[in-house]
Amino acid sequence: MDKVRFGIIGVGNMGHGHAKWLLEGKVARGELVAIADRNPEKLKAFPHIKSYADGKQLLRNRDVDAVLVATPHYDHTTLGVAALQRGFHVLLEKPISVHKADCEKLLAAYAQRPKPTQVFSAMFNQRTDPFYQKIRELVRGGELGEVRRINWIISNWFRSEAYYASGGWRATWAGEGGGVLLNQCPHNIDLYQWIFGMPARVRAFCSLGRYHKIEVEDDVTAYFEYPNGTTAVFITSTGEAPGTNRLEITAENGKLVYEKNQIVLTKNEIPMTEFSRTTTQSFATPKNETTTLTLPDNGSQHVGILNNFVEAILDGKPLLAPAVEGIHSVELANAMLFSSLKQKTIEMPLDAKAYARTLKGLIKNSKLVKPAAQATAPAATTDLSKSFNL
Ligand SMILES: NC(=O)c1ccc[n+]([C@@H]2O[C@H](COP(=O)([O-])OP(=O)(O)OC[C@H]3O[C@@H](n4cnc5c(N)ncnc54)[C@H](O)[C@@H]3O)[C@@H](O)[C@H]2O)c1
Repeated sequence: MDKVRFGIIGVGNMGHGHAKWLLEGKVARGELVAIADRNPEKLKAFPHIKSYADGKQLLRNRDVDAVLVATPHYDHTTLGVAALQRGFHVLLEKPISVHKADCEKLLAAYAQRPKPTQVFSAMFNQRTDPFYQKIRELVRGGELGEVRRINWIISNWFRSEAYYASGGWRATWAGEGGGVLLNQCPHNIDLYQWIFGMPARVRAFCSLGRYHKIEVEDDVTAYFEYPNGTTAVFITSTGEAPGTNRLEITAENGKLVYEKNQIVLTKNEIPMTEFSRTTTQSFATPKNETTTLTLPDNGSQHVGILNNFVEAILDGKPLLAPAVEGIHSVELANAMLFSSLKQKTIEMPLDAKAYARTLKGLIKNSKLVKPAAQATAPAATTDLSKSFNL
């Protein structure tokens, strides 16, 4: 095989973008051969591509090697499991599932895959961003020393009422399974755990419909704790404009601030705790030196993940975003919602069954009546970079 034949399930906003990139030749050894969408209008944008009226139909045929699932979230599990069981390579849009128990189903299907060579990836496109790669290297490589405090305010995910009205599934417990934590912020939650690992305890305050007429969370303030005493505050919102993306890391060897495509790194000459213990002066602080790092761009993003997926299939290259790692961001998002709903601190790992029961209850008790979905601007004319927060 020298080319990967793609089938895309769901050619709405995001799937349309993936289809275009494949058709434009942005994925050198990837070829779009089939699409599926339950909305026949969406299929019309690609008249020359073989189409199916539903994702399961596409999976029953053998004309593709790899399946990209870009449907609403609950179907990631059902379609992902079915695609893995049928021996396809699978690339799932984020989040890989709505809740941890569903992620476990996906991971089990992958563990029992019929072909050992099947590749299973997730569209965590922000892992291609050289700024986040550098921050991860500085944290994980030990240059910053032990991390003491993390503050991430990522509130530049602004969404309007028109956005939430653009799809019947959006911002509902039954359709999306959550709000900002399940749709916009999975990228940052994934990056967070990719850089810092999973916390041991989570306490969060999620406001349901603080800024919008929706039943799910659009504003979150969370506090995390690690076994070594490291603490973190994570804030996100889809209601604030102008928003902020500022990540601040305080560590033994200094401080890193990432904001506005710039990393400012201040290194202590002597690690802070060692200085505190050894100095004889009462009001001294360690001497430090500051460097500013700018990089040319935010990396190859979606096209980068698509190419990495193809290279993993054809060349055995390691995945940048293995789908099995997608369970962590879902678990952390679930833990934040669970903490807020139960008004208590959640000890990790999260009890997947207990959270699934709570989510089921939210769906059952939902009183929201969503007006019929309004038509969105056709994706072809939408500036996709705006929806990707780049
Ligand atoms: N990686 C990113 O930057 C990014 C950006 C936006 C959206 N997304 C993700 O992409 C996914 C889709 O979001 P969207 O904004 O494109 O939604 P959307 O509503 O615009 O598109 C989803 C499409 O899936 C179709 N669909 C639903 N169930 C189906 C099924 N069983 N078989 C075939 N088609 C089906 C719908 O008809 C719709 O056209 C979500 O997981 C979302 O979180 C990712």
